Amino acid sequence: MTAKNSDELQGKVDCYCRHGGESGLELGGEFATLLIRNMHNHSAILKAVFEGYALPPLGEHGIHHWARVFENGLTIAESNGADIEVVALFALFHDSRRVNECIDDGHGLRGALFAESLRGKLVHLDDARFDLLFEACKFHTDGLVVGDPTLQACWDADRLDLGRVGIKPSRQRLCTDAARDLLDWAHDRAVCWYETTDILSSWGWRSA
Ligand SMILES: [Fe+2]
Ligand SMILES: [Fe+2]
Repeated sequence: MTAKNSDELQGKVDCYCRHGGESGLELGGEFATLLIRNMHNHSAILKAVFEGYALPPLGEHGIHHWARVFENGLTIAESNGADIEVVALFALFHDSRRVNECIDDGHGLRGALFAESLRGKLVHLDDARFDLLFEACKFHTDGLVVGDPTLQACWDADRLDLGRVGIKPSRQRLCTDAARDLLDWAHDRAVCWYETTDILSSWGWRSA
């Protein structure tokens, strides 16, 4: 691909992402490949999540938790090579279909099924990557520590934020050395319900 073509392609991708797939651009060839590989409209996904979200957006399992999970996961991914787009989607979907803030059996599976319902609309992953997202969501409360690096990054990212509900994660119950290295930093942020403004604004969320 020439530099000019590359710029044109990136322009299309940027346009597609800004307009949430409503730009009229056709998905095909390299454009589709780029989108499928890396590009999701996180703002549009967040909007879809909130359209059916049963709990307060700023609650214990709400948007500030999701954003910290995303940043935790991105940081782990730098070390373990996790798929950052799957990590991003995990952050948005894993608690998206909770119905209470306490023990909520099956909420991981419900989040996974919700993500599945958006395939081809807002979720553009091939089967292998979608399977990782589905599994990450479905099993995120099961205490697993062994699995694909992307699963491990997702599960650790969520566990590192337990401080918001008064729990410090055990180092032995984390999957990755990267998360163990991150534990004190992430826990301090969880305890004070740190607002990850860059991620929140990238999702189109403006704090009051
Ligand atoms: Fe959860
Ligand atoms: Fe969570």
